[in-house]
Amino acid sequence: MLAESPKAVPIEFANALKQLGLCGSTVLQGQPLPGGISSDIWRIDTAQGPVCAKRALPKLRVSADWRAPIQRNVYEARWMRIANLAAPGCTPGLIGQHEESGILVMSYLPPRDYQLWKEMLSQGQADVATARAVARILVRIHQYSAAHPELASEFPTDEIFYNIRIEPYLVATAKRYPDLAEVFSSLVATTQASKRTLVHGDVSPKNILIGPGGPVFLDAECAWWGDPAFDLAFLTNHLLLKCLWCPAVASSFLGCFDTTVDTYLGEVDWEDASDLERRTAHLLPGLFLARVDGKSPVEYITQDSQRERVRRVARALLLNPVSRLSEVRHAWQKELKQ
Ligand SMILES: Nc1ncnc2c1ncn2[C@@H]1O[C@H](COP(=O)(O)OP(=O)(O)O)[C@@H](O)[C@H]1O
Ligand SMILES: [Mg+2]
Repeated sequence: MLAESPKAVPIEFANALKQLGLCGSTVLQGQPLPGGISSDIWRIDTAQGPVCAKRALPKLRVSADWRAPIQRNVYEARWMRIANLAAPGCTPGLIGQHEESGILVMSYLPPRDYQLWKEMLSQGQADVATARAVARILVRIHQYSAAHPELASEFPTDEIFYNIRIEPYLVATAKRYPDLAEVFSSLVATTQASKRTLVHGDVSPKNILIGPGGPVFLDAECAWWGDPAFDLAFLTNHLLLKCLWCPAVASSFLGCFDTTVDTYLGEVDWEDASDLERRTAHLLPGLFLARVDGKSPVEYITQDSQRERVRRVARALLLNPVSRLSEVRHAWQKELKQ
């Protein structure tokens, strides 16, 4: 395949890079990167080599009318700085952030060395060593931030988090199920009240690159100071849903689920691990249902029969909550066997 020829980069990017002192006055060239839903993302070729620049969009490219302030990109940069202190190398290198334009500049990770975890999973590569490495990074970030509570004031993002996570997932889904309204409002209340660590907010395989040094987390636009159970539930939710995507390797996805849970919970030292597990086991069925009936359904669940399976398991667990994540996994495994 021939590489596409470089294009002139948009003026906002060129100006931001200039003001950040990352380039002179030459016309910058680069390539728009595919996959951005909430941002425009470019590889930009500077005299010092390629960089990756990301500009937050005020309106996301999804079918629902979904808006978010472009300042979220400031919090993404802050999250990257702290995550790198907790687990060095777990994000692209942060080069600069241009607050006014909402443009973040980071090191460019070339596709020849880095592959999205989502792509690997879609090809059936559900490797437990990768799941373990991802879980280790996640728990280190939570652990580090729990030990540095002074960082909380850098993330005054309760409102953004409500607008781009809690409302579209939990509140929107609750509206479709009046009999679950109380359960969902208690999930929202617990999540909002458990302000313990830095939270990434979008720990999904589509936001994790796997490279020579291990996983690299991207896209911390939802960064929040809150409940670490949200990140653990969000990640494990994807591993459950992927069983419908590649049924032939469903047992490997469930193996990744178990490894993620064991690795993560084994290192929780800032609170009682069983409390955190209980919050996660309560929230996970809510997020599970949200990925078929909320504002951001996953694109690979296309048949009603698949949606019904998710609804059956999620509703039963929401009405009769369990405390252990293995119980959530078993309920889903039982459904998949039928
Ligand atoms: N530093 C980077 N180097 C190389 N590619 C990147 C980098 N950051 C993002 N990308 C690519 O751009 C895609 C979208 O980036 P992401 O930060 O997830 O934005 P969005 O919020 O729009 O989803 C990623 O899936 C990845 O393929
Ligand atoms: Mg993304």
